[in-house]
Amino acid sequence: MQSLLLYFDDERAAALRLAAACGLEAAAIERHRFPDDELRLRLPLDSAARLPEQLVIYRGLDHPNERLVELLLLAGEARALGARRLLLVSPYLAYMRQDIAFNPGEVVSQRIIGRFLAEHFDGLITVDPHLHRVASLNEAVPLADAVTLSGAPALAELIARQRPQAVLIGPDAESVQWIEVAAGSHGFAHGVCQKVRHGDRDVTIELPDMPLAGRQVVLLDDIASSGHTLAQACRQLLAAGVRSVDVAVTHALFAGDALETIRAAGVEQVWSTDCIAHPSNAVYMAPYLAAALKPLLR
Ligand code: R5P
Repeated sequence: MQSLLLYFDDERAAALRLAAACGLEAAAIERHRFPDDELRLRLPLDSAARLPEQLVIYRGLDHPNERLVELLLLAGEARALGARRLLLVSPYLAYMRQDIAFNPGEVVSQRIIGRFLAEHFDGLITVDPHLHRVASLNEAVPLADAVTLSGAPALAELIARQRPQAVLIGPDAESVQWIEVAAGSHGFAHGVCQKVRHGDRDVTIELPDMPLAGRQVVLLDDIASSGHTLAQACRQLLAAGVRSVDVAVTHALFAGDALETIRAAGVEQVWSTDCIAHPSNAVYMAPYLAAALKPLLR
């Protein structure tokens, strides 16, 4: 099957790194935004005005409401223009948090968005999806080829270079999975906090019971969204006498003033993977994504 990787201009760098790592040709999708916010997409066709049979679409789903519409538009048209196999590489997958109705009538977004992706794509690769009560990605996105990677190994290597003596701290019980991967491969001292969330920007955090005074701490988590989880953990750590606090996250969402919030709390370095394009990107996921994508290519 002839193959092509398609990307949008705002993710060009990461998409081209993946294309190079897989030996795929790559081309940009043109996007025009009308004054009323509608989108017009234009796909790159060959001389016969067709697309290759196999397309890899690189699109992270930060800014999800707009990008899900992009996927809807382009998947439908791509099949009409000759594509028979569509593989989605979406390093950040949105709408995975709401996996049950916490109150009667609440829409279970994970199920709806998961089905939407499964209906339009033949395979999916993502990184550290926010799955709470669901054990595997294909329970949320019912595809045989639904692959989950983690940013933790790459972040662990970076931390080992930058802070070889660091204590790794996870800000909540969920982060134990990333802490264990990172600590397991590099032997870092580590611990996990207890977090209670009271609202979107309101969390309380209890530090693990371990010696921390004087230590260099790296907070490791999957997502920084409002930044309040990391900021609160950082304040507690500094109050406990640690020497410094840096942050390493897979998904640098950093909504609104999140970066200012964590800096004001005392965080020094902020490192992230390039799953979401952000000035803090310090680690490239292309080698990991390529290793997962190659077996899916026909
Ligand atoms: C929570 O389960 C996640 O692992 C993150 O800790 C959380 O999404 C961070 O959110 P925020 O930055 O808004 O506190």
